[in-house]
Amino acid sequence: MGLRLGDAAPNFKAQTTAGEIDLYEYLGNGWGVLFSHPADYTPVCTTELGRTALLGDEFAKRNVKVLAVSIDPLDKHHGWVKDINETQNTTVNFPIIADEDRNVATLYDMIHPNASATATVRSLFIIGPDKAVKLIITYPASTGRNFVEVLRVIDSLQLTASHSVATPANWTHGEDVIVVPAVSTEDAIKKFPKGVKVVKPYLRYTPQPDL
Ligand code: BEZ
Repeated sequence: MGLRLGDAAPNFKAQTTAGEIDLYEYLGNGWGVLFSHPADYTPVCTTELGRTALLGDEFAKRNVKVLAVSIDPLDKHHGWVKDINETQNTTVNFPIIADEDRNVATLYDMIHPNASATATVRSLFIIGPDKAVKLIITYPASTGRNFVEVLRVIDSLQLTASHSVATPANWTHGEDVIVVPAVSTEDAIKKFPKGVKVVKPYLRYTPQPDL
């Protein structure tokens, strides 16, 4: 069975474009995004890695380390990175794992045989500072991921880790959040001094508490 939310993210050592990396050492006490792509020198993957690099400051601001993976070898990664930098007007600033023996792909169930017998699908895992898996998304090879959405989820995860709130549909940083059902309205009024708007007894909003 593949990984599920809340499971411990399997640790590994892997060869990358930045040398050998131990996942847990690489992440330290921060957050991580581990994401696979089907193959080097392919168009959608080129845009995905470029877009991730362009968002490097946004990931850093949130204390998130990024790590990409495919089953292609290191020399291919190095050559391809030059193309990504050139065509996407960026500098790839995160390591790419050369998972030739498919150790990482197997640990994270990134090969879906009914999609492709050999290539990794577009899997993405957000890993928390406790090394637990916080988000899993899987996209087909034909659809590039939205890395602004990944940042949005990280904002939600980081906020909800330390406040008794959840974030509504399409929420972005700065917008009102939802008081979790476990907190009574009476307690919510004490807990959230910026105010609680009760739309229904089970649907209560408060301004984002950490601003
Ligand atoms: C791509 O990254 O463009 C791609 C990779 C595998 C299949 C289809 C598209």
